[in-house]
Amino acid sequence: MKIAIIGLGFVGLSLTSVLSSKGFNVIGIDVDKERCKKISNGISPFFEPDLEKSLKNGLKKKLQIESDVSLVEDCDLIFVTVGTPQNKTGSIDLSIIKNAMLSLGKSIRNSKKQHTILIKSTVVPGTMKDVILPILEKNSKKKAGKDFGLISNPEFLQESTAIKDTKFPHAVVLGGYETKYMKKVKNFFTKLHPNVPIIITNHQTAEMIKYANNSFLATKISFINQLSNICQKIPGANVDDIAKTIGLDPRIGGLFLNAGPGYGGSCLPKDMKALIKFAKITGVKPILLNAVEDVNIKQLEEIISLAKRKLGNLESKKITILGTSFKPNTDDIRDSIAIELIKRFLKRKVNVTIHDPRAINNTKNVFKDKINYAKAVKDAISGSQCVIIMTQWKQYEKLTNNDFKQMKKKMIIDCRRILVDKQLDADYYAIGFGKE
Ligand code: UGA
Repeated sequence: MKIAIIGLGFVGLSLTSVLSSKGFNVIGIDVDKERCKKISNGISPFFEPDLEKSLKNGLKKKLQIESDVSLVEDCDLIFVTVGTPQNKTGSIDLSIIKNAMLSLGKSIRNSKKQHTILIKSTVVPGTMKDVILPILEKNSKKKAGKDFGLISNPEFLQESTAIKDTKFPHAVVLGGYETKYMKKVKNFFTKLHPNVPIIITNHQTAEMIKYANNSFLATKISFINQLSNICQKIPGANVDDIAKTIGLDPRIGGLFLNAGPGYGGSCLPKDMKALIKFAKITGVKPILLNAVEDVNIKQLEEIISLAKRKLGNLESKKITILGTSFKPNTDDIRDSIAIELIKRFLKRKVNVTIHDPRAINNTKNVFKDKINYAKAVKDAISGSQCVIIMTQWKQYEKLTNNDFKQMKKKMIIDCRRILVDKQLDADYYAIGFGKE
């Protein structure tokens, strides 16, 4: 069996490296030739734990990296993992996937193989039937379900654990018709992930499952962030004890209840916006989803107003931000709340210094010389009037009084509550903890 994967971003490259390292005959395809060159040399275009190790393993076996989509002609399974970003209005932008489907359709036109195409890209319900299928049928001059298989196969991996999640998913969703292609794909996944539930449903439900998943995670985060704001007003209240305890109730579950500065990243904010837009098109008022988004947007204001209350006018104040990646163990800053915080501070003419163990280069691409960059945490903190911990990188958990000695005025805002037990000799505020 030969497998093609079109689009080598987080999802595509993780799948490419995991399947090829297991010995499958895989072609990873991306239109970006520079990216392909890097990947062929075993270098990942972004930081993701264990990805390069897995990629190098694959390259030693039968993995091929190419920029030519027509090579799918030889492949039995074709995974589509191209990006579906948001446009200016917040709706889903399908231009990349439309172009990919056009090339893919043409590429399978003359082939004798019975291909199965699996769409992993996140798309709003109805996209498979109304957009993807017609483009593929028109350009291949073939019939879906008869001449080739077409299956919705949403992905649930998280950045920073992408390889583990690809190897051990919690579920496999297959959306489409009960054809011979569906049978073949079900067998493939049963062998690949024995004991993992396989949910077979129709296209539109599979597409909706992905949005349901991400919007529920966002809801949990906004819920705990709202509670965290209330806790801050109750002297001595502790949001983590509350989260831990309610999480023990199996109906609630303990994950995704860490209060913080709000959810960021390339998926949750984008998918929430797309679902809200989509709900409106269907005529449903997305009251809850709007509230989840609203809480998320306002969460950052809480942090800024705390800084303002304690420091006064923020203009020219020296503020250090620890962590710009949207979460630890990634260099990804897309829709990172820390990046938004810096933008708001710059509007108020704050003198910003940042540190991040992995994301300095990506941050530099955004802010150039408008802010200061420190390689060492100590240098970032030295002379600062306020330190704000935005990302819970492991190394920040080790900070002690000694590290804050060189601060001008010792004020610390800990958005992740990683230093609560340190008895810091500073004006210390932990988001979600009511100061006594
Ligand atoms: C998210 C989903 O978790 C994945 O299941 C999904 O496949 C992926 O989007 C996607 O659609 O591609 P990811 O973007 O990697 O994964 O990020 P998360 O781990 O979900 O974190 C998102 C944000 O929520 C981060 O800013 C994080 O700091 C924040 N968060 C997360 C909290 O503030 N509290 C929590 O308890 C959990």
